[in-house]
Amino acid sequence: MSARLTDRVARLMRAMTIDEKIGQLNMLSGGLVVTGPGEPGDYMAALKAGSVGSLLNLFGRGQVREVQRIAVEETRLGIPLIFGYDVIHGHRTIFPIPLAEASAFDPALWERTARIAALEAAAEGLTLTFAPMLDVSRDPRWGRMAESGGEDPWLTARFAIAKVKGFQGDDLKSPLSIAATAKHLAAYGASVAGRDYAQVEVSERSLHEVYLPPFEAAVAAGVAAIMPAFTDMDNIPLTAHVAILRDMVRRQWGFEGVIISDYTAINELVPHGVAADVTEAAALALKAGVDIDLMGLAYVEGLPKALQSGAVSMEHIDQAAQRVLMLKEELGLFDDPYRDAAVKFDHKARRVEHRDIARDAARRSIVLLSNRGNILPVTQPPRRVAMLGPLANAQAEMLGPWSGAGLIEDMVPFLPGMRAAWHESEILYAPGVSIEGGDTKGIEAAVGFAERADIVLLCLGEERYMSGEAASRARPDLPGHQEALARAVLATGKPVIVLLSSGRPLIVPWLFEVAQAVLATWFLGSEAGHAVADVITGQWSPSAKLPVSWPADRGQVPVFYAHRPSGRPMAPANRYSSKYLDLPNEPLFPFGHGLSYTRFTHRDFNVSPSELRAGAKVTLSVSVRNDGPVAGEETVLFFLRDPVASVSRPVLELKGMGKAWLEPRQTKTVEITLSTDDLAFPGTDYAPRLEPGVIEFFAGPSARDEDLLKAEVHVVV
Ligand code: GLC
Repeated sequence: MSARLTDRVARLMRAMTIDEKIGQLNMLSGGLVVTGPGEPGDYMAALKAGSVGSLLNLFGRGQVREVQRIAVEETRLGIPLIFGYDVIHGHRTIFPIPLAEASAFDPALWERTARIAALEAAAEGLTLTFAPMLDVSRDPRWGRMAESGGEDPWLTARFAIAKVKGFQGDDLKSPLSIAATAKHLAAYGASVAGRDYAQVEVSERSLHEVYLPPFEAAVAAGVAAIMPAFTDMDNIPLTAHVAILRDMVRRQWGFEGVIISDYTAINELVPHGVAADVTEAAALALKAGVDIDLMGLAYVEGLPKALQSGAVSMEHIDQAAQRVLMLKEELGLFDDPYRDAAVKFDHKARRVEHRDIARDAARRSIVLLSNRGNILPVTQPPRRVAMLGPLANAQAEMLGPWSGAGLIEDMVPFLPGMRAAWHESEILYAPGVSIEGGDTKGIEAAVGFAERADIVLLCLGEERYMSGEAASRARPDLPGHQEALARAVLATGKPVIVLLSSGRPLIVPWLFEVAQAVLATWFLGSEAGHAVADVITGQWSPSAKLPVSWPADRGQVPVFYAHRPSGRPMAPANRYSSKYLDLPNEPLFPFGHGLSYTRFTHRDFNVSPSELRAGAKVTLSVSVRNDGPVAGEETVLFFLRDPVASVSRPVLELKGMGKAWLEPRQTKTVEITLSTDDLAFPGTDYAPRLEPGVIEFFAGPSARDEDLLKAEVHVVV
């Protein structure tokens, strides 16, 4: 975004009345979908009065064109509207939820699915998405973990860059590009007790080390917009946080794009207890740098009075209005308000291709958590299969939360996917219980099918809206009576493969002790059933890895790999060390955990050169061999640790990753190059600081200590 105004914008600014300028700061709902509290009002009167600058939750070529025509032809200045929507993991073609896609550890995939989402969204008149969500998430009680890239700042920063590039393309002016919104700045994922919207208690250092890097990466990648979080930082709501929004994001990071409030978040400064009324709230948000008021009507109602009282200046209003008009200029809306080229893009013709990519994304997002006795893959179709559980044929749930314009009827659930793969097998289907209902009468029939089957696919998990916004769960385990169903089916002694559909790790340690195999299938979108079939039959050897630690018990939460050692690091033999009396410290499955149908061996970890000066590059390489029976893709994770520094450093920090496709008995070298910038950490002023001394590097399949190869370098500054 360039701060310099175009002549057209300068001319409009001179022509606009105060009310028209405030109107550009007003975003109202088009009412096709509801994504927040309250009922969307009627925007048409405000639109014709020039009091609306953008709409959300309205899409479809006909509706958007007609509303845009009114804006362009029936308002005094004819300023076109921006049309925004939550295109989070697909528009019509639905991809795996972000937490699932993060499991692929694949920036090229993340960009590809965002590009397709942009094409399909732009073809239906949308010009902005409220994505990517970049909140580092370490608490599975928090439902919005489903929307995130997981627990790691570096991985989430890669996710940020890939999604911004995918949504925005090479040119925001292209009719097939949509503006991306980095949200929700910042540390929203650290809401106390995992309760959505709750207060956040994060140190300034953790803010800079963990929660800000993905947003800084998004800004560096050219993201067009930023959305502050509902929550607070140091008791100041982000929506009114001058130090973060104005001083850091705008002045220090140089962000010249638009800041869009979250849904009625400006009004919520009153219940936050920092504003007495909507006029004070509007003044606080505008002075912090919030340009657009999403659904609150706070700017329209509050700014005229705030201006009159001197609480805000005309310059504050002008700056916000200019940024909104410049975004419309960058999107090419003044020259091409109807973006006909996008509307001409016949995404229906591309739907088959898009579904193929959705299938590939889905199978790359399935994490094989356990596979006792290598029961998987089932390469020969069984004679009789029991597909049991409330998620076995749950077409709607495959959409997951925030499912864009996805249609239930377009989703392929597990049952038809398996039927297509095992078309000669007899497949017995019984839900057994509902996802969270109290009825257990169906368990007997399900057990009866299990007893007649050669193998059981037991499909358990959450409803799609048990994660996402306003969906925190204090006990993130199997809802309803699914545990009773599972135990009854497992008691038959038949081989049972469990498919877990969820927007978070489900804390069910007992399940892994009795089920032969467990797959984390998250919510996989349009091609869920076919992707699951590809993995179960061995068409695809699972390659995904956990982007979040999977707790053994909710008592461990939050549990994450990049923790600091403390002065008394956990030592089993040492009573006085950081540990529990009743639980292990380690999660059930660590960050990066994910089994394959083959076996990869990592060896010969090399780091060169062994001495680094500031500005130098360092190459990390490891040899990976496929020692197993089938081909597969391995992702090598590269971590570092700074054992002695001016501030305590985490025991591990992810700094790179590399992939290799390996045939059986094939060996390849996976290599990445880092710079000393990657070895720096925020100093006392939070600027990147490189310190002399030893840096330890680690390479391996996951953050599990036993899996890691180690090497070290000396930094000389
Ligand atoms: C919601 C969400 C935000 C979303 C916005 C618009 O409340 O917090 O993620 O983009 O409102 O729907």
